[in-house]
Amino acid sequence: MKASNNTIFITGGTSGIGLAFAEAFLAKGNKVIICGRREDRLKEIKVKHPGIIIKQCDIADEKQRIALAEWVIVNHYEVNIVINNAGIQLTANLTQPVNITRIRQELEINFIAPLHLASLFTPHLSGRNDAAIINITSGLAFVPLAFMPVYCATKAAMHSLTLSLRHQLKGTSIKVFEIAPPSMDTELGHDRREDKTQTHGGIHVDEFMAEAMQALEDDLLEAPIGQAKGLRAKREEAFERMNAH
Ligand SMILES: NC(=O)c1ccc[n+]([C@@H]2O[C@H](COP(=O)([O-])OP(=O)(O)OC[C@H]3O[C@@H](n4cnc5c(N)ncnc54)[C@H](OP(=O)(O)O)[C@@H]3O)[C@@H](O)[C@H]2O)c1
Repeated sequence: MKASNNTIFITGGTSGIGLAFAEAFLAKGNKVIICGRREDRLKEIKVKHPGIIIKQCDIADEKQRIALAEWVIVNHYEVNIVINNAGIQLTANLTQPVNITRIRQELEINFIAPLHLASLFTPHLSGRNDAAIINITSGLAFVPLAFMPVYCATKAAMHSLTLSLRHQLKGTSIKVFEIAPPSMDTELGHDRREDKTQTHGGIHVDEFMAEAMQALEDDLLEAPIGQAKGLRAKREEAFERMNAH
């Protein structure tokens, strides 16, 4: 895909990967729109980068998703790229009755919201040059970490959905990308960390961004980044190693 002169809408731009994409695309001469639930974060980002357009939204809510897509299309008609990035990461102990509300929330944010948003944008994007939908999945789409089974299942589902979406959009101008990040040091899983200063672990966002941006510019439609490559290639071996403890 071309790296400049796009109008790019990113879900979950208030931290981590979404914010890094927003900053990188802004620096390359794109118009960037981000959303997130935390209004204070959105305002801080606006102060730091006046060029970034902000919109507060909870994509777990169906009505807010519909209103969000309409708002983007009406106010930024030239939008040609949508990045489905927002996500949460929860643990779930399946040996006990689960908290089904939390499970539904994770499914809604990580799977139903990107699926719904993609479908809300495809009629608009299909008429545009250089259109793309970019789904952020995970290396854990290929090999699950068993203590976060629902998170990994949503990412596996997003991988599958991306293949189907790409197939359905074959005759249109829309390219469908999947970026599968490795473990990265962001705020992901922050809610379940008792010690909030504890890091997520994994590589620095800058290291990820260099490879991810290159993959997009090279039109690599399915791009596992860093260690995620190994998870895709050697699933069974990786599962035993990752879940040994
Ligand atoms: N970090 C990793 O190791 C890793 C590895 C593989 C894949 N990923 C994927 O990369 C994506 C970004 O994660 P990250 O690592 O950058 O984590 P992060 O720093 O926690 O960022 C998550 C983003 O999603 C937004 N978000 C979450 N729920 C939302 C909701 N209901 N409505 C709107 N926005 C919402 C958050 O904004 P608000 O809190 O302001 O709503 C935040 O901007 C996720 O899909 C994640 O699964 C991450």
